[in-house]
Amino acid sequence: METKWLKVDNIVDNLMNHPHIVQAAKLLTENEIVAFPTETVYGLGANAKSDEAVQKIYQAKGRPSDNPLIIHVANIKQVEEMVEEIPKSAQILMDRFWPGPLTILFPQKKGVLSPAVTANLPTVAIRMPNHPIALALIEAAQLPIAAPSANRSGKPSPTKASHVYDDLQGKIAAIIDGGETGVGVESTVIDCTENIPVILRPGGITKEQIEAVIGEVHIDAALHSEKEKPKSPGMKYTHYAPDAPLIVLDGSKEWIQKKIEEQQRKGLKVGILTTEENKDFYDADVVISCGNRKDLTTVAAKLYDTLREFNQYEIDLIYSEAFPNEQIGDAIMNRLRKAAGHRIEKEDQ
Ligand code: TXA
Ligand code: MG
Repeated sequence: METKWLKVDNIVDNLMNHPHIVQAAKLLTENEIVAFPTETVYGLGANAKSDEAVQKIYQAKGRPSDNPLIIHVANIKQVEEMVEEIPKSAQILMDRFWPGPLTILFPQKKGVLSPAVTANLPTVAIRMPNHPIALALIEAAQLPIAAPSANRSGKPSPTKASHVYDDLQGKIAAIIDGGETGVGVESTVIDCTENIPVILRPGGITKEQIEAVIGEVHIDAALHSEKEKPKSPGMKYTHYAPDAPLIVLDGSKEWIQKKIEEQQRKGLKVGILTTEENKDFYDADVVISCGNRKDLTTVAAKLYDTLREFNQYEIDLIYSEAFPNEQIGDAIMNRLRKAAGHRIEKEDQ
């Protein structure tokens, strides 16, 4: 299949009538799959009501079928169609954070969506993306759109159309190129079917922001212990991995430099993922700066692109600096831990 490249400049007015949006929406109604930008990462969209369309997503991504998809909507009416009820906590979160990088689990109304979309779970995960192209596409298709991140399963999520192309060309009908995404890490996933809502995946909206509007929330224990089974099926898979093995080093830059030299003495070529503040300090085979430590949102925005960038070099090992586990740093560390297959080394204090 030839993958169509549909460029859309998202500052134009009346996006719903843009010929490329019209074309992409038509493909979705014909049960084809189309990649599109959201404010977090690129999504791979399909008609969430069609088994045929949803199966194409699992196939193109090489995604295990027990890993359910997030449904993307452009208005609240679409939510009401798919859920048994809107819990009070969910209503407050929708009012405050939608459109935006927050995915909410609701009790699912049976018989509306393809069962494949929710991997036969009783809940359904929904979000309203804060991106003009995504919203225009969903409105134009007049369908709830199931969309995982538009990468091959296991690879870093795409924050540019070219990342999608590298992973999925020939396997999907079209890519809407709307430039770089903003947030860079995926949406926060929160289960609002529990009395006290539970965060299943840290992401674009922080725990602190959520607690400021609904009070106490819990965090799925599996996020901080490898022994627990995660409530969100997707969280158990290795993910985001660059080609070379990655290890996160939690310690001073002097200690990290020593670790780099130890590996180089063994004849290995070593890359280091660092930030603007420290990039001139390191002497390694490849040094890549991933934003500014002073503003961790810049690190989130560049993280996946940086992980992919290391694949351009012949290196044997990538070290990454660690980041504080707070605010958006929580999502950054969650993704880095997974990209590293949980290999973290701490400096003895
Ligand atoms: O920012 C995002 O959320 C991006 C953009 C494209 O919207 N999408 C995304 O989708 O990250 P995906 O498929 O890569 O991750 C969805 C996560 C997975 O961990 C999945 O297991 C979980 O959400 N999930 C989906 N439905 C669920 C459900 N009913 N119960 C528990 N977890 C669910
Ligand atoms: Mg994903």
